[in-house]
Formats: sequence, structure tokens, C-alpha cells
Amino acid sequence: MKIIDNINKVKAEFEIELKDCLDIENHQSLYRKYLSRKSGLIQGFFKEVASIPPEKKGMVGKEINDLKLMITAALDEKKKELETGDSRRELTDHSLPGRPQYIGRLHPLTIVLKEMISVFEGMGFEVVTGPEIETDFYNFEALNFPEDHPARDLQDTFFLDNGMLLRTHTSPVQIRVMEQQNPPIRIIAPGRVFRKDTPDATHTPVFNQVEGLYVDKNVTLAELKGSLLAFARALFGPKMDIRFRAGFFPFTEPSVEYDFTCVMCEGKGCSICKGTGWIEISGCGMVNPAVFEFVGIDPEEYTGFAWGMGLERIAMLKYRISDIRMFYENDLRFLDQF
Ligand code: DAH
Repeated sequence: MKIIDNINKVKAEFEIELKDCLDIENHQSLYRKYLSRKSGLIQGFFKEVASIPPEKKGMVGKEINDLKLMITAALDEKKKELETGDSRRELTDHSLPGRPQYIGRLHPLTIVLKEMISVFEGMGFEVVTGPEIETDFYNFEALNFPEDHPARDLQDTFFLDNGMLLRTHTSPVQIRVMEQQNPPIRIIAPGRVFRKDTPDATHTPVFNQVEGLYVDKNVTLAELKGSLLAFARALFGPKMDIRFRAGFFPFTEPSVEYDFTCVMCEGKGCSICKGTGWIEISGCGMVNPAVFEFVGIDPEEYTGFAWGMGLERIAMLKYRISDIRMFYENDLRFLDQF
């Protein structure tokens, strides 16, 4: 008989659900499902009794009643267990050590980049980005690189099959911005750059730079020095100083290599700065008038300064990290410290 089959099915289902019942809420929903006077399964069976042949009514009625008594007793029992905590005690061993919860955190490079951005934003610089896949024009030509410059060599640059390349520095963003915007321009451009370097403690084929560019009337080299000094002090403290040395980049004239006070010895001289008290940071300079010509800015009317900066290098100095590869190994013992 179909109703008898159904009674047996409900009984089996109840037994499984009862085992899985671990809290009062669950218990209440079981109670509603099976014993509710309005919509419970047992009540449903009783209603069906009306439509079965009279000679079978007694037998079926008894089956339903037995099931009801069984479920009622089992739920009462379960309720007592739940109220005294007996069932939980069975399932939980409070003497087991807890499982550590790993909480996500920011990567050290992200932390330092955020800090750098906030310092430069405070000086009025705006963050812009440019493409990682570039053309020869933006990466080299418009930056005044001569045709035979070594950086244009297959040895140093990742060239793609379609004639494009992976940018070797963030300086092409300068060109893109100056093409789009009229001075005054005050931007920083953080992002990944790519070079065919063999990884070692200070080189990786992918790393990050933060480019800076300021173009306006009467912009001077002294302002460049002041801006970089303010940045160094904001990141590393008031004892920082900055030193300029003559350098060469095709896109700046004059070009400068700049150093910060050694953060390890505060300028006294140590093994890290090879006794000089200074740490090389990167390059900067006054925007070369030849670059202005490429982007249609009048070099008679405007001057500008620019700098490049290695994000990893700054982060290594800040956190005293001696190997750049640490940033990319995803070793939790390292990352957990930030
Ligand atoms: N693009 C240069 C490099 O990757 C760094 C640089 C030097 C950027 C001087 C500048 C600059 O904007 O003025 O080595």
C-alpha cells in the first residue's frame, strides 16, 4: 500500500534528520516538519486515512499513530539532550588545540606604495597609470633614446612578435600624459616594468617603478630636490638628506642620479653604504626640451622635472630587506611579518 510505503519513508528520513540535529533551532524545525498540527507530515497522513478502504483504516491508523509516538518521544529526548548540552559534548573535544585562522593582509609592496602615493598626493601629485605593453615610440623614441641605445637591444628588452614591447620603465607614461594634458601637470605613475635580467638579490625581470612628472612655468631643479627630500623625510624620518650627482638619461637635461642618507647607519658609514653614508636611489632631472617637442609643449614657455624610483628598492630600505626575491616568493613566514 502506498501510504504504508510513505510512512516508512518518512520514518527513515526522520531518523537521519534527528542524527544531524545539533541545536534548538534545528530541533524546532524538525518539530514543525513532522508534528505541526496544521502542516506536519503526521497530520497529513491522518487526513489521508479518510480516503482508504474501511477495512484497512484500523491498520493504517495504528501505523501512523506508532510513528507519531516514536517521533514525539525521540524529539522530547533530543530536546533534553540539547538543553543539557549532552549531544554537543559528544561531538566536541575541548582539549584539542585550536586551528589557526590565517588573516589576509597587504603585501609589503602595496603598503609602501600606498604610503608613497599618500605623500606625493599631499604635494599635489595625481596618480595615473599607463599600459604595460608599449610601442617603441612611447618607451624609447619620444623619450629621446637614440636609435642605437643599448636599452633598445634584444638583450635587454622583451620585444613581442607584433612589434610591441614590455615597457622597460614607467617613463612612457610621461609622454602619454603630456600628449593628453596641458600644463600644469603634476603626476606620479606607479606600475610594473620588465627587463631581461637574471634574478639575483637586487634584480628581477619584473619590478615596479614610481615615475614622477611636474611641468609648469618656471619649474626648477631646486624644487625637484626639495620634493624628493620631503618624500625621503616623510618615509624615512627627519634625519634623511638627499644628494645629487651628475647622471645621464636621454629624456632629461640636466640629468641627475640621486642618493638618500643611508637608512641603516643614518649617514655614518656602514657596510651597506660601503662607508659612504649614502644609498643610491635612482635617476631624475629636468625634462629635456627635445621631449617637449615630441608632445607639442613649448619648451620656451614651460619647464619640468621628472624622476624614476624603484618601489622594491624603497621597500627594501624601509623594511631592511636584503633580497628583492623575497617580495615574489609568497613565503608566508615573510609575508606574515607585515
Ligand atoms: N626611467 C629611468 C630608468 O628606468 C629612471 C628615470 C631617470 C626616470 C630619470 C625619470 C628620470 O623620470 O627623470 O632607469
